[in-house]
Amino acid sequence: MTELFPSLDPIPLPAPVWLLKALHMLLLSLHFVAVHLLLGGLAVAFVWNLLGHLRRNEQQRAAAGELAGYLPVVVTYVVNLGVPPLLFAQVLYGTALYTSTILIGAWWISVIFLLIGMYYMLYVMTRRGASGRAWWGLALASLLIVLVVAKIYATTMTLMLRPEVWPVMYAANAHGTALPPHDPTLLPRWAFMICGALTVAGAALVVVSQRRVFSAERRDFFATHGGLLALAGSPLWIAAGLWVWHTQPAGVVAKVSAHALYPGLGLAWLVCAALLGVFGLLAAARKGRLPLALAVLVALVAILTDAAAVLFRDGLRDVTLLGKGFNLWNQPLEMNLQVLIIFGVLLVIGLVVVGWLVSVIARAKPVTEATHEQA
Ligand code: HEM
Repeated sequence: MTELFPSLDPIPLPAPVWLLKALHMLLLSLHFVAVHLLLGGLAVAFVWNLLGHLRRNEQQRAAAGELAGYLPVVVTYVVNLGVPPLLFAQVLYGTALYTSTILIGAWWISVIFLLIGMYYMLYVMTRRGASGRAWWGLALASLLIVLVVAKIYATTMTLMLRPEVWPVMYAANAHGTALPPHDPTLLPRWAFMICGALTVAGAALVVVSQRRVFSAERRDFFATHGGLLALAGSPLWIAAGLWVWHTQPAGVVAKVSAHALYPGLGLAWLVCAALLGVFGLLAAARKGRLPLALAVLVALVAILTDAAAVLFRDGLRDVTLLGKGFNLWNQPLEMNLQVLIIFGVLLVIGLVVVGWLVSVIARAKPVTEATHEQA
């Protein structure tokens, strides 16, 4: 099977595998949180704006507008927290990942244009909202684009684990326009990200409801609806996670189950995902009047749930690839300390700046229709 992977890049790894992996998973966890906020936030904004216009419900329309105001910022986090793990994944799994992205190259490249279109629509949405017009159609189109992008990513990351189909795919179509043959793990993987989006976005609304810049009425609205969303999303997310697990090949299940770390990680994910449902119930019942410490805990658990999912997913990938002859740990290494130090310093500065930006957003007043009228 080893010969299915192209020969290794002659440039050795600049840092040990464990360090590249740690950085990869840290940043990918943050990327998953951002993707979940975007996907879930768009779905909620779409439903609220549609219902708000159909039922002439001012509260729902205004809440949708305020939520939509966050979304362009979330996109910047999705993209900027996606690029570093992509670079790490290319360094660590280059021969698998490059092959997979080239085989479906047209789809892979289309992500750039889909993202630009979606980003543009988010701004048009907020402008329309400012003049009191409905924008649920644009929200729906943006949501569909994000779902397609998520499917393209899931397809790529699944194809990189299937060296046995690469030659057949390339022989059949060398233009990058074809999609891989059916894989039973693809749909559950995509569903996993969608259900995660509902749960994490629900938890985020509960956290946002603690902001005093919103009226008491709006805070209750965010908390109740966010809580209910997390409550409904949590069992769906757990079901999707079990679906992902049960569609894995028997050999992968056996090796992951016998691993020292992965079963614990899987359990940690399960507990955290269930906890988000419990927090959702609590927030909906108390209309968000949670102690600040509990709101912070909700945010932390949401991040930890995504981190556990990323770590477990990484285990599934490494075990699958090892079974097909790709040993991640067996790559030439030539430490480049200078580059590592520069990267480390820039990463810390970058994370501090991101933290500062999040705190600025947290303190900013929401953009409402009234704000636009004054401007
Ligand atoms: C709306 C935009 C995006 C969405 C909805 C999205 C969604 C996803 C999803 C669903 C996955 C998991 C796929 C799976 O394993 O099943 C993923 C993984 C990933 N995404 Fe994104 N993504 C977006 C944008 C980006 C961008 C712009 C980048 C970087 C340029 C990026 C980099 C990555 C990387 C590196 C991974 C995982 C790599 C690995 O397996 O180690 N994403 N994304």
